[in-house]
Amino acid sequence: MMNVVQELMAKGYLIETNFLKSDILEQLLKLDKDLFFELIFSMNPPKIINKNFFIKTMPLLVEKLKKYQKEETFQIASYFSEKYLKKEEKKEEVFEESNNLDIIQEYDVKARKIEVEDFVEYFRSRYKFFKNILQERIENIVSIGKIFGNRRNIFVIGIVYDKKYTKNKNILLELEDLSGKIVAIVNKDKKEVFEKASSVVLDEVIAVKASGNREVLFVEDIIFPDIILKEKKYAKEEEYAIFIADLHIGSNKFLEENFLKFISWINGKIGNERQEEIAKKVKYLFIVGDLVDGVGIYPNQEKELKIKDIYEQYKYCAELLKKIRKDIKIIVCPGNHDAVRLLEPQPKFNQEIIDIFNSENIFFTTNPSLVNIGKTKNFEGFNVLLYHGRSLDYYIDKIDFLRLSNAKLDPALVLEFLLKKRHLGPAHASTNILPVEDALALKKIPDIIVTAHVHRSAVLNYNNILVISCSCFQSRTSYQEKLGHEPDPCKICLFNLKTRKLNILDFS
Ligand SMILES: [Fe+2]
Repeated sequence: MMNVVQELMAKGYLIETNFLKSDILEQLLKLDKDLFFELIFSMNPPKIINKNFFIKTMPLLVEKLKKYQKEETFQIASYFSEKYLKKEEKKEEVFEESNNLDIIQEYDVKARKIEVEDFVEYFRSRYKFFKNILQERIENIVSIGKIFGNRRNIFVIGIVYDKKYTKNKNILLELEDLSGKIVAIVNKDKKEVFEKASSVVLDEVIAVKASGNREVLFVEDIIFPDIILKEKKYAKEEEYAIFIADLHIGSNKFLEENFLKFISWINGKIGNERQEEIAKKVKYLFIVGDLVDGVGIYPNQEKELKIKDIYEQYKYCAELLKKIRKDIKIIVCPGNHDAVRLLEPQPKFNQEIIDIFNSENIFFTTNPSLVNIGKTKNFEGFNVLLYHGRSLDYYIDKIDFLRLSNAKLDPALVLEFLLKKRHLGPAHASTNILPVEDALALKKIPDIIVTAHVHRSAVLNYNNILVISCSCFQSRTSYQEKLGHEPDPCKICLFNLKTRKLNILDFS
């Protein structure tokens, strides 16, 4: 064996111990030396050869062995098939039956001391990401620093540094790219573009079509990064996912009776025959933050707390979730009332809290995070983006048309507004972020986006992306009353993976 290893090393390969000690190498060494090397190199191995490489490429290895049509190659091939490939088939059978769940993106970003340079880098990378998207859709792009003389119909891509209304009620945007800043005026008489300009927020990246010079640009059109039409997916099997959030357990406004009614329904104990049949097919339950009410979140909260200790709140929450059928996978991310830091991306719950739940069917993720559900051999599954939605309040309040159209009663309007920007919280002031990764930018476009926090249920189909805002299981608190929030509790959102139909069920 030493010879083989030395020869491989002489050719620039390293061999990991797990391969050295493996039965795969043991079997392959039964071949004569020339054949051994011919076979190994025909597999195009990585520079560091390990056992995993051969496990992954086993079907190919077996096929190659069989092609030599020698007794020893047949013997080795049949050993490998028996040991490695049969298992694979068995695995796939289980795979097909099981309600598959895969957390494909979470943000394990540790809090650390933040320097100005971190913000500079954060916005620079945001600019680059959106510039790449925008420049695929437009031509004649000019860097701000390279505008000489008078130019007509040029495109400038910039991050919105400032936005003001002039005395004449025109909108003045200050745009910045990597080469400089420029002022761009949107005339109030140009209705269509003015309307677009009024929905521009600070710190987002946009493209403007404009004429003018280095001093000032006159804007003719605004192009947002937006999301292009996505292909509609349908699962082969009828399975359901449920989306809920904002339980606020521990609050004396937590609607326990209604929540228990929902649990009885999901367990198939109440409802008519058809509902029972559907309930049985529920495989996933998403809880998008604010499982508990927390402590010290809003002024005078303690007066409305039934459970005053946050760990006791989680204990009670765990007790309730334990009543749910064990074959349902529960996916949980934190919200602004939960016991994790507020800075987004929020990490998952700490081990102490996870241990309180001590449950194999509860999966904890970060806020935001991307989770794949329903994957089978013949279906790639749905990618679900979870975001609790703390940024939403800002847009409801600050954007004229959202405030005037009463978007606080219809969060779908806010979500549509944000999807056009391809970002769930572009304005820096809309939520507290850790400037390490632009986690709220929609980099990989999901099939489903689920948010919460507004305590009102709404659904929306935007370019074939299903957008869901979750209701809550808490009645109106004094604080919400003061802020004019009007929750619409006890609704759950039921999604059929086969038909893509979304239903809102009411447990009030
Ligand atoms: Fe919340």
